[in-house]
Amino acid sequence: MTQTILVTGGAGFIGGCFVRQLLPESDARVVNLDKLTYAGNLDSLAPVASDPRHAFIEGDIGDGALVTRLLDEHEVEAVVNFAAESHVDRSIDGPRQFVETNVLGTLVLGQSYLDRARAVGRLPRPAAGSHAKARRRKEGKRPAEEAEGRSN
Ligand SMILES: NC(=O)c1ccc[n+]([C@@H]2O[C@H](COP(=O)([O-])OP(=O)(O)OC[C@H]3O[C@@H](n4cnc5c(N)ncnc54)[C@H](O)[C@@H]3O)[C@@H](O)[C@H]2O)c1
Repeated sequence: MTQTILVTGGAGFIGGCFVRQLLPESDARVVNLDKLTYAGNLDSLAPVASDPRHAFIEGDIGDGALVTRLLDEHEVEAVVNFAAESHVDRSIDGPRQFVETNVLGTLVLGQSYLDRARAVGRLPRPAAGSHAKARRRKEGKRPAEEAEGRSN
């Protein structure tokens, strides 16, 4: 089944590369949400601009109403978040934008996804065995695969 993925920050350096590779190498649909800050570059998406499986939306990951609408309208199944204030030097002059996007925006994005997953009865499941591993660690025991010298 074709999967719809919300990619955020998909006009940035890493996100743009991800979108340009994902579309030709899969049958996924991409909803690309990017605020187009100084770091966003729509030209980097030229190779996929006319792809009917790519929808670009200019907007902020911290806008919960927008994120929820996109998750609903496009029936998004997965989110890959590349939206960020990534230039560390700028955080010294203007730390507020870093907190708003990297911390609060990420929270809004994750919470919106979780709320919708609950609403449609499709909660993301923890990786197989993770509860058992956590319980064994809490009890001071080593998970079986560690004891056997395996790792994942
Ligand atoms: N560049 C690297 O080598 C590298 C390596 C490893 C991890 N990363 C991580 O990958 C992520 C992306 O890095 P990058 O180099 O592509 O950054 P970038 O600065 O090139 O791109 C960030 C993108 O996010 C968008 N954006 C910023 N704030 C937004 C918001 N509030 N809502 C929606 N979009 C917003 C920008 O417009 C831009 O297109 C970061 O978390 C970074 O730490 C980058």
